[in-house]
Amino acid sequence: VLGIWHQLSKKEIPELAKCSVLMRERSKVEETIYSMQQAGAGSLQVISDFDMTLTRFAYNGKRMPTTHNILDNRLLINEACAKRMRELMNTYYPIEIDTNRSAEEKLPLMVEWWTKVHKLLIQQKIRKDMLGMAVKESNAMLRDGYKQFFDRLSENQVPLLIFSAGVGDVLEEVIRQNHVFHPNVHVISNYMDFDHTGVLRSFQGQLIHTFNKREGALSQAAGLRQLKGRSNVLLLGDSLGDLTMADGVSEPKNILTIGFLNDQVEERKESYINSFDIVLVNDETLDVPNSILRYIT
Ligand code: C5P
Ligand code: MG
Repeated sequence: VLGIWHQLSKKEIPELAKCSVLMRERSKVEETIYSMQQAGAGSLQVISDFDMTLTRFAYNGKRMPTTHNILDNRLLINEACAKRMRELMNTYYPIEIDTNRSAEEKLPLMVEWWTKVHKLLIQQKIRKDMLGMAVKESNAMLRDGYKQFFDRLSENQVPLLIFSAGVGDVLEEVIRQNHVFHPNVHVISNYMDFDHTGVLRSFQGQLIHTFNKREGALSQAAGLRQLKGRSNVLLLGDSLGDLTMADGVSEPKNILTIGFLNDQVEERKESYINSFDIVLVNDETLDVPNSILRYIT
């Protein structure tokens, strides 16, 4: 039986043969995809990270911005604040992706990073009505193939949960400006809270950072009516912390995880292969997820 499945997915999903695709257990991936296809679109939900997963990490050799980085615009914050945010990035980002530290060790440091940055942003009295312009002026780009990805899920009424430690208001503006904020899209993220004049005064709810997505999954994602009864999950992320985004799914049958390995490739390759079912190395496209979705739905 296994032999048939191998042949099936080779023919049906040629993208899995690309040299940027790494898999620890190819046959297990093929079996999972096959059984997700048998269950069909009605049993499927997609849970995806946003920054550097749905958006590009680099374009023409240049780093692309995260939702936090999009706020680095003189319409919103002054030069001194921008400088401070870049310093914090230079301090904490290397910690975030350090393979020599455990998630437990990183956790308090991530809280520190996010808390400091959010405090700075609040001091800048950011205006809600300027966010759209900041996104327009930014280099933010969704990965190639994004339109197919979002449109196909919408057409098949497959819920897409975007679970981001970025800034929700900015994230929504990015997908709105790209015309893919369809009704099947749900977002869990850090949302800004504005006063009655439209000035940022705080962030709403429990802080989400890279290594506490499990808590958000249990407290927020688990309650989403639209995801109920969908026991097959396609999960996309670029951080090992993203793997906990499906922890709120009750009685999952199949979970297929895809990890984008964008940075520090050689240092992190082994841990990514051991953690994600499929690892995409320096792949700036959504070709592999799209080909799997084309097969399943
Ligand atoms: O959407 P996602 O969960 O990936 O968003 C979080 C990402 O934003 C982190 O991977 C982190 O590198 C980045 N970040 C940032 N500036 C901050 C805090 C986080 O660019 N101040
Ligand atoms: Mg990310």
